[in-house]
Amino acid sequence: MSGGGIELNGGGGIELNGGGGIELNGGGGIELNGGGGIELNGGGETWLILGASSALARAFALAAGERGAAVLLAGRDREDLERTAADVRLRTGVRAGVVPFDALDVASHDATVAGCRGQADSLSVFLAFGLMLPQDRCEESFDAARRTIETNYLGAVSILSRLAPVLEAQGRGRVVVIGSVAGDRGRLRNYVYGSAKAGLHAFVQGLRARLWRAGVSVLTVKPGFVDTAMTWGLPGLFLVAEPAAVVRSVFRQLDRGREVAYVPAFWLPVMLILRHIPEFLFKRLNV
Ligand SMILES: NC(=O)c1ccc[n+]([C@@H]2O[C@H](COP(=O)([O-])OP(=O)(O)OC[C@H]3O[C@@H](n4cnc5c(N)ncnc54)[C@H](OP(=O)(O)O)[C@@H]3O)[C@@H](O)[C@H]2O)c1
Repeated sequence: MSGGGIELNGGGGIELNGGGGIELNGGGGIELNGGGGIELNGGGETWLILGASSALARAFALAAGERGAAVLLAGRDREDLERTAADVRLRTGVRAGVVPFDALDVASHDATVAGCRGQADSLSVFLAFGLMLPQDRCEESFDAARRTIETNYLGAVSILSRLAPVLEAQGRGRVVVIGSVAGDRGRLRNYVYGSAKAGLHAFVQGLRARLWRAGVSVLTVKPGFVDTAMTWGLPGLFLVAEPAAVVRSVFRQLDRGREVAYVPAFWLPVMLILRHIPEFLFKRLNV
């Protein structure tokens, strides 16, 4: 007790501190700090959101905040992340911080993880970054193909591998990885991106088995078309889902303890059919 604030923590105790604040955390708490703000930290869970400038990630951050979890927004565009963090704080009252992260700069990933550890009691991970360059660009320039593979696969493997020991050590937490239906079958029009997502799906399967042993759950989400910057202006899209609807579905799957989820759910039968078309026919399709 150092004068000023009141702190009510997981143990149910009351503590007065110098910050002039009230803090009630560890079990879904309220924090009233020096600035006079109220912050919620639901059950001590903090979602690290990788690729937090995406529309999908922004919707997830808001939904996580509404459920009382703190968020750490990781990405390249600091100004954009700060805006989202302010918005999440204002609309939900949770803690929202920003962490620099570039999937392609794998040498910096240890520092990214170290930066997160100090800011979260119990980390959960939402991996949303991705890059879908047009297939014809990937065919014309290997550099485009390499960037696609390095972002979607190598970058994800790098950051998840460095986060895995942290998750194992905490012995709880949740991991959500955004894959894609494109990873279920190599298609004429999108096979470089699809192959990177297929690799990611296989990696995440193994990671699930590893982290399950430590009490950490891993959910692979395979969306179909979602209305985001990635698909903006692309021809031939159908059954396009809204990011907020995808996120609602992700939380439903998390609550049910699912491990792989097609979102929206109708993509499961669609992909089942697509996966079973014999190769000699599939190669003739212009998809
Ligand atoms: N939209 C769809 O139809 C669809 C369908 C299936 C799966 N997905 C997957 O859903 C996820 C979210 O994508 P989205 O649709 O919301 O597209 P988006 O708006 O283009 O978002 C992609 C995000 O990835 C980030 N990113 C790209 N390269 C990065 C790098 N090197 N380091 C860090 N961040 C990087 C982007 O950050 P910057 O702003 O810094 O570029 C952006 O925030 C992706 O994994 C995507 O593959 C999307």
